[in-house]
Amino acid sequence: MITVHFISPKGERQTVDAKPGDSVLDVANRHDIDIEGACEGSMACSTCHVIVLDPWFDKLPDSREEEDDMLDLAFDLQETSRLGCQINLTEELDGIEFQLPRNTRNLLIG
Ligand code: FES
Repeated sequence: MITVHFISPKGERQTVDAKPGDSVLDVANRHDIDIEGACEGSMACSTCHVIVLDPWFDKLPDSREEEDDMLDLAFDLQETSRLGCQINLTEELDGIEFQLPRNTRNLLIG
């Protein structure tokens, strides 16, 4: 099992379990974490935006260009922002922490 922490915009921490191979969006959906994921992982929105807290960002595989393009549209973009649907959890990410952004856009793009 992999432990994942989500910190709400108000600073409330929710700690949940995940399995290797789960995306962060899968985990959030399963545990009622407030990440929308409007396009269900097809990289056509930015509503699954999460901010990866130190030191975890550097442990993730690099984002692809399509992901960066979508992130450019995200509200509250930070240097360590990623799309939750594009992060697949592995044992090495046990204990990873995500900050949820202050707001998301609710529009599907394209
Ligand atoms: S759910 Fe739409 S890009 Fe991740």
